[in-house]
Amino acid sequence: MSEKTTKIRAAVLRELPGKWTIEDLELSAPKPGEVLVKVMAAGLCHSDDHHRSNDLPLPNLPAVVGHEGAGVIVALGEGVTDLEVGDHIVCSFIPSCGKCKWCSLGMQNLCDFGRFILEGTQIDGTFRIKDADGKDVATSAMLGTFSNFQIMDQSSVIKVDKDVPFEVACLVACGVPTGIGSARNMANVQVGDIVVVVGIGGIGINAVQGAAMSGAQRVIAVDPIEYKRTRALEFGATEAFATIAEAEKFAKSLTNGQGADSAIVTVGVITSEIVAQTYATIRKAGTLVVTAMGNHAEELSGINLFDLAMMQKRIQGNVYGGWSPRVAVPILLDMYKRKEIKLDELITRTYKIDEINEAYDDMRNGKNIRGVIVHEH
Ligand SMILES: NC(=O)c1ccc[n+]([C@@H]2O[C@H](COP(=O)([O-])OP(=O)(O)OC[C@H]3O[C@@H](n4cnc5c(N)ncnc54)[C@H](O)[C@@H]3O)[C@@H](O)[C@H]2O)c1
Ligand SMILES: [Zn+2]
Ligand SMILES: [Zn+2]
Repeated sequence: MSEKTTKIRAAVLRELPGKWTIEDLELSAPKPGEVLVKVMAAGLCHSDDHHRSNDLPLPNLPAVVGHEGAGVIVALGEGVTDLEVGDHIVCSFIPSCGKCKWCSLGMQNLCDFGRFILEGTQIDGTFRIKDADGKDVATSAMLGTFSNFQIMDQSSVIKVDKDVPFEVACLVACGVPTGIGSARNMANVQVGDIVVVVGIGGIGINAVQGAAMSGAQRVIAVDPIEYKRTRALEFGATEAFATIAEAEKFAKSLTNGQGADSAIVTVGVITSEIVAQTYATIRKAGTLVVTAMGNHAEELSGINLFDLAMMQKRIQGNVYGGWSPRVAVPILLDMYKRKEIKLDELITRTYKIDEINEAYDDMRNGKNIRGVIVHEH
């Protein structure tokens, strides 16, 4: 194990709301149970922008966020036995300890280590990065993939085959499993179903592809941006509308006024109003999956409780597509290699870390399905 520190280049959040600053920082050597990762590619998920906008506040600043990542292990901490230097890995924004009740139940996406995701520390409660003034720098999700090197706990990394490009592999760290799992696991889409997906970004496009591969008869995409609607049709949507009201009308026209079997909310910034509008699209005993996030203090209103109970509808929360990361990542990459899911097509544009503010402007302006940072070393 190396005791040396590593010079790193990362995008740092210093105030919230704010912008990213690109800084040279110092990363400590891996502690027991940790690995040093040369981060090769990082996906630009909207959740990191929720930190920047302070919708999802970080208690410790400055911070390096970023939670979709793929890279190569370059050093091992003590006690790491099932990973080797040179291994290619995908990280998971949900660590899996393998021992807590939720991991034991096969629900790694609810692992008790999830409590460190917003805290900004590793599991011993300390930080791994120092800035130029010697101040501690936090990381989100025990990861911080907007850095060209990073320390990760062994519970956060999943070894993957070396023949998958890093830009593609990083997407199965969050967007792909969360989206596909929204449809397959959380909405439990069945052959012949009618499914509405609201918001076609990196998550929603995968909910579309997940619904289509589950045998949905109709996959109705909703996004106000025409480019997103066009892309949704390439990923298996059968119709695409600009508004939720149009999707509701169409789903009801197919079902004698009853509505869709399920609807999935994957907009960038969720509000009660969007959830209530989407709820109106589902039928009796239908399922509404809430995948998107917005301001952390937002509460649900606008849904009639008599209708919820008497129509036996279900509102389903969702983290990581209700999937265990160590199950989902190898399955999804194998499906990619067998051409059963589209991953290359998700990447609209790649950026350098110095371009991260522009990259997130592009996301907010609806230009990208997924932008990906390709790190330099
Ligand atoms: N639950 C989880 O585990 C999990 C994991 C990852 C991301 N997320 C959340 O999922 C959401 C989507 O993330 P993303 O990276 O795909 O975002 P994104 O910004 O790439 O895509 C969001 C899309 O929603 C569209 N949109 C906005 N308002 C809309 C409306 N009223 N109706 C229809 N479409 C609308 C936008 O045009 C955009 O195309 C975010 O809130 C993110 O934080 C949740
Ligand atoms: Zn994400
Ligand atoms: Zn666990």
